[in-house]
Amino acid sequence: MTVLGIETSCDETAAAVVRGPASPEILSNVIRSQIDEHTEFGGVVPEIAARAHIEVLDRIVAEALAEAKCSFDDIDAIAATAGPGLIGGVIVGLMTAKAIAMAAGKPLIAVNHLEGHALTARLTDDLGFPFLLLLVSGGHSQFLMVRGIGDYERLGTTIDDAIGEAFDKTAKLLGLPYPGGPAVEQMARKGDPNRFRLPRPLLDRPGLDMSFAGLKTALRTQAQKLEPVDDQTVADLCAAFQKAVAGVLSARTRTALDLFRERYPDIQPAIVVAGGVAANQEIRSALTEAAEQAGARFVAPPMRLCTDNAAMIAWAGIERLRLGPVDDMNLSPRPRWPL
Ligand code: KG4
Ligand code: ZN
Repeated sequence: MTVLGIETSCDETAAAVVRGPASPEILSNVIRSQIDEHTEFGGVVPEIAARAHIEVLDRIVAEALAEAKCSFDDIDAIAATAGPGLIGGVIVGLMTAKAIAMAAGKPLIAVNHLEGHALTARLTDDLGFPFLLLLVSGGHSQFLMVRGIGDYERLGTTIDDAIGEAFDKTAKLLGLPYPGGPAVEQMARKGDPNRFRLPRPLLDRPGLDMSFAGLKTALRTQAQKLEPVDDQTVADLCAAFQKAVAGVLSARTRTALDLFRERYPDIQPAIVVAGGVAANQEIRSALTEAAEQAGARFVAPPMRLCTDNAAMIAWAGIERLRLGPVDDMNLSPRPRWPL
């Protein structure tokens, strides 16, 4: 099966062609980031995002087909993100997908963006069900038990800010550019993680929920005491913030792996990480270590497939097609759509 995927739920306009499910192959994976359009506002502006998707999506789809050396005739289905995400962008992608599906007479598959992230590791690695997923992006921070296609259990989530969002807000607070994650990581390299002590919110409670807003507030309080803040202090604050986040994630990962063992004593646990925050080296090594200590497999798909892309949407479409029914043309975009 060859599926065209379309992703427009946040600030990446993306189209890809993927073949599978046996010996899966990414024939093309075109991504256009809107970072330049949003930088001056210090975050994604939904209205600007939707307009930017409209302007380039046709061209991105054409590029993805050309790179894959495919025409619409060679495509078996069109898969598009139908939510969750910024509604304007989701509408652009889903309507484009419906138009192509109708004109080319191909089935339409509405994909949950989170399901796209959840199944990516099966495209890149030989991975069976069940497995644990830690999704850490600008919009989501959650642990999922992926039990099968369409069979997900959310084990825990952030009760306030997503981790990427906390990185972005921290960067803004400290006068660093958007997106904040890479900027904070870069500064943290020059910093002393032990000069400031930040809390580890919620870690005293059982379960897998997380909280990151308090961390940012604590950091603001520390920074305000020291105004004007010099470069070394910014670096030290970044290092303390990153250490606290990595600490929370690795503690929660250990709990998640314990839970996996309890439920599936005969299966080697595997934990997959996805989302933009997975690019962070300190967080990656904290997770790798937690997995190693628990005798679990740690799977991190290549960064280009961890952050938002359409190959994961096309792949989720292929996985869904195995189950049979395709979607109705009347379906609506869903800004909120928990797995
Ligand atoms: O998955 P993603 O590209 O987009 C969505 O949010 O869906 O994730 C973007 C988020 C941003 O908040 C960004 O600051 C964060 O991932 N991020 C990082 C790093 N690179 C990107 N956070 C920490 N360290 C990084 N190196
Ligand atoms: Zn995403």
